Amino acid sequence: WPMHLPWIDAILRLKEQRGAVIMAHSYQSPEIFHGVADVTGDSLSLAQAAASCSAELIVICGVYFMAETAKILAPDRTVLIPDLHAGCSLASSITAADVRRLRAMHPGVPVVSYVNTTADVKAESDACCTSANALQVVEAMGSKKVIFIPDRFLGAYVAAQTNVELVLWNGTCEVHEIFTAQQMRHARERFNAKLIAHPECSPEVLAEADFVGSTSAMSQWLEKVKPDRVALITECSMADNLRTKFPQIEFVQPCNLCPHMKQITLPNIFNCLRDLRHEVTVPADVASRARRALDRMLQVGR
Ligand code: 13P
Ligand code: SF4
Repeated sequence: WPMHLPWIDAILRLKEQRGAVIMAHSYQSPEIFHGVADVTGDSLSLAQAAASCSAELIVICGVYFMAETAKILAPDRTVLIPDLHAGCSLASSITAADVRRLRAMHPGVPVVSYVNTTADVKAESDACCTSANALQVVEAMGSKKVIFIPDRFLGAYVAAQTNVELVLWNGTCEVHEIFTAQQMRHARERFNAKLIAHPECSPEVLAEADFVGSTSAMSQWLEKVKPDRVALITECSMADNLRTKFPQIEFVQPCNLCPHMKQITLPNIFNCLRDLRHEVTVPADVASRARRALDRMLQVGR
């Protein structure tokens, strides 16, 4: 931390001058999450914050689909991302043409897309969801069958809790798909730890978990249960960020790093505010169709 202080000070000064709001996802490193962000949380919290943001300038410390989502929900604000190449294996697993083909194969079946998708894919969808409200959004469609894209593990997790039949896509999160049930058992037996997993993990991993939820739900669960020892089966910064909030809880491995989230750094946040780059834009016709799907998600809420 002390080595980060000069960058943090410089960013805080520049942020003030620019009148900017910095929003950081739970997977951002502690020096960003605790050091410079005004808003932190899961994908749903960031989308809600963007939709109600009064600042002219929003800096998204997260991956590209999060910045696109913020721009669609706050079209008259300037939205910047410190690194344009912060991608996501789920967002790159499906295209708008794929969604049109799925619709042609399943006429009349509504499409729910996870927010971890491009704006083009959202524009082809009836509603978006996050890991915090996927089940509620699927059920709100009022249909016996729903096309659920692109995360097949989140889809399987939702399918197990509803009578709605889900048509799934073969997308996965490269960070969560590599956890194994054996790692889970090891963490439980070796450390006597509670196991909290993100629903992007495989069904075998989720079957071993004491709790499954979005990154914000994980934090709320810890607040409520206050276990002595816990393994957060998700991106490593999650535990790094919560250690400060819950000093009495011991956080144990395993965790995996998301290389895309880690593209965002204090120096590139500083450059972003200094040079007002990189601005995120979404073509108007795509944005207006994607907005409908995102608004439906926000109506369902958490
Ligand atoms: P949530 O913050 O919505 O749980 O999402 C996790 C994730 O992998 C985002 O990239
Ligand atoms: Fe995408 Fe997974 Fe990284 Fe989240 S953690 S941004 S889902 S690759």
